[in-house]
Amino acid sequence: MCGIFGYIGQDSAPSIIHKGLKRLEYRGYDSWGISIIDKDKIRTIKDVGHLPEEIAQKKLFSTIGIGHTRWATHGGITVTNAHPHFSKDRSFVIAQNGIVENYLELKEELESKEYEFETNVDTEVIVKLVEEGIKKGINLRNSLISAFKQLEGRNTVIVLDLKDKRILAIRNGSPLILGIKKDEIFLASDPLAFNQFTTEIVEVNNGELIEIEKGKFKIFDIDNNKYIDRESKIEKLLDIDIDKGKYAHYMLKEIVQQQHTILKATEYTEKELKPLIKQLNNAENIYTIGAGTAGFSADQIAYYLRKISKKSAISIKSYETESYLDLITSKDVVIVLSQSGETADTLEAIELFKEKGAYIASVINMPGSTLSRISDIFFMSKAGSEICVASTKVFTSQISFGYLISKTLIGEFNEAKKELSSLSSNLESYFTKERFKDIENIANKLVNKEHFFILGKGQNFHIAQEGALKIKEISYKHFEGFAAGELKHGVIALIEKGSPVISIISNDMNRKDMISATYEVKARGALTIGIGDMDFENEKCFDYFIDVAKTEELKAISNVIPFQLISYFLAKALGNNIDKPRNLAKSVTVK
Ligand code: F6R
Repeated sequence: MCGIFGYIGQDSAPSIIHKGLKRLEYRGYDSWGISIIDKDKIRTIKDVGHLPEEIAQKKLFSTIGIGHTRWATHGGITVTNAHPHFSKDRSFVIAQNGIVENYLELKEELESKEYEFETNVDTEVIVKLVEEGIKKGINLRNSLISAFKQLEGRNTVIVLDLKDKRILAIRNGSPLILGIKKDEIFLASDPLAFNQFTTEIVEVNNGELIEIEKGKFKIFDIDNNKYIDRESKIEKLLDIDIDKGKYAHYMLKEIVQQQHTILKATEYTEKELKPLIKQLNNAENIYTIGAGTAGFSADQIAYYLRKISKKSAISIKSYETESYLDLITSKDVVIVLSQSGETADTLEAIELFKEKGAYIASVINMPGSTLSRISDIFFMSKAGSEICVASTKVFTSQISFGYLISKTLIGEFNEAKKELSSLSSNLESYFTKERFKDIENIANKLVNKEHFFILGKGQNFHIAQEGALKIKEISYKHFEGFAAGELKHGVIALIEKGSPVISIISNDMNRKDMISATYEVKARGALTIGIGDMDFENEKCFDYFIDVAKTEELKAISNVIPFQLISYFLAKALGNNIDKPRNLAKSVTVK
């Protein structure tokens, strides 16, 4: 969702901001804007749609400016509504990430004071609140603080100030991080935006004001205006590779990378896991939590904790915590799954669980994210940058980590490592051109169908749900994942001649049920596709069959991969934007 970028240095700000915004594109946006200080003026260019490959830089020279990619919330997708927004006297511009939840009340109040609004975006309210402070004789910096304190919701604002040629920013919830280089400062919603320029970062916390002037930054606490010495806390970013390599799309690259990323995510030593294992052993209740794909990881990890470790683990969706809140105590452990570490629903849930005193253990992929800072302990998924909006490699990284934890709890750390490494090498030989062709051929047969059903049971139930989510996100086709057991209780009413049904089948205690369920839909005319262990390739109930990489205990991982590939090839056949599907944002930083 919305991306913020700021730069002060020696180089061409328009060009650097353009490059930074390009790298924030993956977060999802529908309009963009860049403001720079050109001599004695702020110049702004903005537009709807995608940021062009180049901007007309000849007319724009500057070494200071800000940029924004907007994901419309309040107000339509128009050039006027795109950020940054000018103050009336054009002495500053503001861009914002987040939602001002009390926007209407603030707007009404300002309108009663004769302020006129040109847009219907919440950001304009912030501009007017700052102007109101300045009108009262308060300087821009302090007016910004006082305006910011009136905002409800998770917001981050960035201001370009013409008079003092500086950038100001305040963060509360929406992510913000500083990049540091000699005489240059970068400010962005995530470090991917500037890591081609610098790998030195400084984290910014909620409730902090950043002042950047002449290549130097200062951080203040907005509650007491005290200077915070953060310069000594410069950190190095982990390697971030955003090259597509030989692949046409990030999605395919990221799918193939899973042969390595499941090992990266679990390269922890037993000693490093010990603090979490100790907490889990002493916990009264264990909860796992996440949203979307990370929510299905949470489901799968809770499954492993129950099935492998015999722990009574409960999976919660980040946006449905209400009924659990009164149950959570300081004796509980919450395992949080989040690729970005910035998902608003997840952060809000964790803040509430923290208030109850629960121990928070997070599994995060994005370095420097908010979740890492509010957790008692965190583990990096180390999957590298995941640029495709649809999550693939981070999902399998998360569940690999959950599997490792579950096995470690029963003293089988080494066995888990062996199983992960055996799957990793089997995946290496799984990703062949021939297999891709076979899956593409099956995907091509599905192009004209609209409604699809995926059935799974036991270790494959949540994979049916994740598989359906993956395909609907990129193909825009209606896929639903069900527990196979649910079929007779209602779902079967939907099956008619030609309905595509995908059954996930593993050589486990549920195989017979999966075969009977598939026969039941086949008897009603369904087109049946099996995904699973090779042993079932010749089962008569399947019209088509996709075999998976061999593994004893990690079938959830090997079985989800064909779904990721079907999603990819189906979207390709349909001509969809694979890496940036419509309406979706990579980092869902608003509720
Ligand atoms: C789907 C997908 C989303 C995210 C969800 C949570 O492919 O990526 O469903 O899993 O928005 O995001 P994170 O993991 O960043 O908390």
